[in-house]
Amino acid sequence: MRRTKVLVIGSLNMDLVVHVPRVPKDGETILGTEFHRYFGGKGANQAVAAARQGVPTIMAGRVGADAFGRDQIASLQGEGIATEYLLVDEEHPSGVAFIVIDAGGNNRIMVVPGANAALSPQDIEALKPVMAECSCVVVQLEIPLDTVLAAIRAAHAQGAQVILNPAPAQPLPLDIYPCITVITPNESEAQLLTGVEVRDLDSARQAAQVLLERGVQAAVITLGAQGAYGLTPSGEFHVPGHQVEVVDTVAAGDTFTGALAAQLGEGRSLQEAVEYANGAAALAVTRRGAQPSVPTKAEVLHFLER
Ligand code: RIB
Repeated sequence: MRRTKVLVIGSLNMDLVVHVPRVPKDGETILGTEFHRYFGGKGANQAVAAARQGVPTIMAGRVGADAFGRDQIASLQGEGIATEYLLVDEEHPSGVAFIVIDAGGNNRIMVVPGANAALSPQDIEALKPVMAECSCVVVQLEIPLDTVLAAIRAAHAQGAQVILNPAPAQPLPLDIYPCITVITPNESEAQLLTGVEVRDLDSARQAAQVLLERGVQAAVITLGAQGAYGLTPSGEFHVPGHQVEVVDTVAAGDTFTGALAAQLGEGRSLQEAVEYANGAAALAVTRRGAQPSVPTKAEVLHFLER
């Protein structure tokens, strides 16, 4: 029987978002124009992005035994996401992200990981049976690296496709790359991983080649307004960006990765999945907030048909 489930292992944060006319200088106080609280965290955003594309989705991670944690779990359940592998941590508070957005829509994000930092390689052990039922296991780098590496190795051993969104970027051990099916860095993440400064398609190709030489099956580099570039041993492709009005880019990369996983989970080719995910991410930047910005499958299909 074909596996369709997507398991996301990663962070959950409460995003506390302040809109300001400009970022204050050292020692300066300025008045913000708006404050919002959104559900966020790269892991939870990617789970929501997969679930809104209609695939059965499971979220694994840690939240604190506090109001933010309870709200997170209830919100994910409201999305139809399975939460039985979400652990409630009695010792650490839920993760929070402080996000400052200036008048130009540029954001600065400060994350205090809290319970996310306590997700351990031992916690991954309990996920092995469910990994064996999943088409895709999705991870990011907002939980401890040891835990990410344990998750990648276990998912690979269980025969799932492993999607790594290497954000926030940090160097990875070379022996993990052969366990990765698809890696989805943006330009700066690709540069940190490969040393290649990614500015255009040629440099994206060079960076992707480095990642393939290290052993990943496919590299998909997201290029903001320029869309996405993909490279596999059997060929390359470029999916151009969509012209949209950019309101807030928070969670655009998460939307891309979650939607990509959903499409791969449904058996689409990598290029088809990237075309779809590129449309989903384009819609996400036209809306405010992390999880509120993630489009549904109907919205993505309507957008791509235009
Ligand atoms: O990728 C966007 C996310 O990064 C935000 O939701 C914030 O929580 C940080 O983790």
